Amino acid sequence: VIEPGDFGPFDGRTWLNCAHQGPLPRVAVEAAERALALKVAPSRLSEEEFARVPRDLRGVLGRLLGVPAHEVVLGNSTTHGLHLLARGLPLRAGDEVLLVDGDFPATVVPWLPLRDRGVRVRLLRPGARPLSAHELAAAITPATRVFCASWVFSFFGDAVDVDALGAVCRERGVLFVVNGAQAVGVRPLDVSTAPIDAVVGCGFKWLCGPYGTGFAWVRPDVLETLEYEQAYWLAQLPDDDLSRRLDYSLRDDLGAAAFDVFGTANFNNFLPWTASVEYLLGHGIEAIAAHVDALVERLLAALDGSDVEVLSPREGSARSSLVVLSHRDASRNAGLHERLAIEGIDVALREGNLRLSPHLYNGEDDIDAALAVLAA
Ligand SMILES: Cc1ncc(COP(=O)(O)O)c(C=O)c1O
Repeated sequence: VIEPGDFGPFDGRTWLNCAHQGPLPRVAVEAAERALALKVAPSRLSEEEFARVPRDLRGVLGRLLGVPAHEVVLGNSTTHGLHLLARGLPLRAGDEVLLVDGDFPATVVPWLPLRDRGVRVRLLRPGARPLSAHELAAAITPATRVFCASWVFSFFGDAVDVDALGAVCRERGVLFVVNGAQAVGVRPLDVSTAPIDAVVGCGFKWLCGPYGTGFAWVRPDVLETLEYEQAYWLAQLPDDDLSRRLDYSLRDDLGAAAFDVFGTANFNNFLPWTASVEYLLGHGIEAIAAHVDALVERLLAALDGSDVEVLSPREGSARSSLVVLSHRDASRNAGLHERLAIEGIDVALREGNLRLSPHLYNGEDDIDAALAVLAA
C-alpha cells in the first residue's frame, strides 16, 4: 500500500514512464536532503558515516538480489557492470559472444570493442520475440563463451525467459549475463537460485534511485576469473579506517568491492538510493510486481478491439511492465504522444511507438487517464 505523499508531488501530471526515469520516493528525498546537509557543514559527516554509505547500500542490494552483501559491486550505471564483464572476462581471439539483435545499446556496445581482440560478437535475430531457448541452443557454437541479453527489452517490452535461457547456457558451458535495468525492482529475482552468472542494472529506473547509480552481481567463481585490474585506495583501506592511509600494501580479500565504481562513499547518490531500495523491499518486490501487472492487464484489456494495437507481449511471463503500443496508422503515434503530454500524461515515444511503463506509485486512475486519450 502506497501512502499518499510517499511519492511526488508530480505537478499534477501522470508519470507512466518509469522505463526512462523512476521518481524518488519521499524517504529518498529526505535522505538526499540529509546528504546535502552533511556537505553544507562537513562536521556533520563522521568518518563512521562516510564508511557506512557503501556498506549500507551493498546490504540492501544484497537483500534485493538474494545474495550476501559482499557479492555486490556498486556502480554508477548499468554500463559500469557490463563494461567490467566485457573487459574482465577472459575472452580470447576466436571466442564468441552472443547478443540479441534489437537489444538496447547499453547491452550491446560494451562488447563491440572486443572485436579488435579477435573475439567474435554475434547478434542473434529472434524469429518471434522474445528469443527462445530453442533459438539460443541452435546458435551456440563450441566457441561461444558468453550470452548477454536484457531481461526486459526497452523498445519491445518483451521479457526473455531467464530460467529457460539460463538452463541452455548452463548445459552448454556458456556464461549468461543478464541486464536487469528494465526489470530489477519490478520483477522478483533470486540470483542464488536463478541460472545466471551475472546481473547488472541501474538504480534510476525501477529502483527509484538517483541518476548515476548502478550495481552488478557476478557469481563468485566467475568474479575470480576477471582479468580487470583496479586498485582504489578507499577500497584498500584496512577496516574502513580512514586514519591509516600510509599503507600501500594491496589487499586481495576485497571480493566484489574490488570492482566498485570509484567514489564509493558517494553520499549524495547512495544515501537516497539506499532509502529507495529499502522502501521497495518494505513493500516487497512480489507485491509490487503483482500491482504493476494488474495495471498492465487493465490497460491491455481496455485496448482490446481498439485502434491502438499492443506490440509487446499480451500475456504470460514474456509480458512486462513496459507496454508498447502503436495506432493502426503508426504515423499517428507522435501525435498521440503529444496529445497525452498535453493532457498531463507522460509516456515515451520509442522507435516510433508509444511505451507506457507504470510502477508502484501508479494506480488505476492513471491507466484510465491514459486510456481516455488513447480511446479518443
Ligand atoms: C536495457 C537498458 N539497459 C541500460 C540502460 C541504461 O544504461 P546505463 O545505466 O548504463 O546508463 C537502459 C536505459 O534506458 C536500458 O533500457
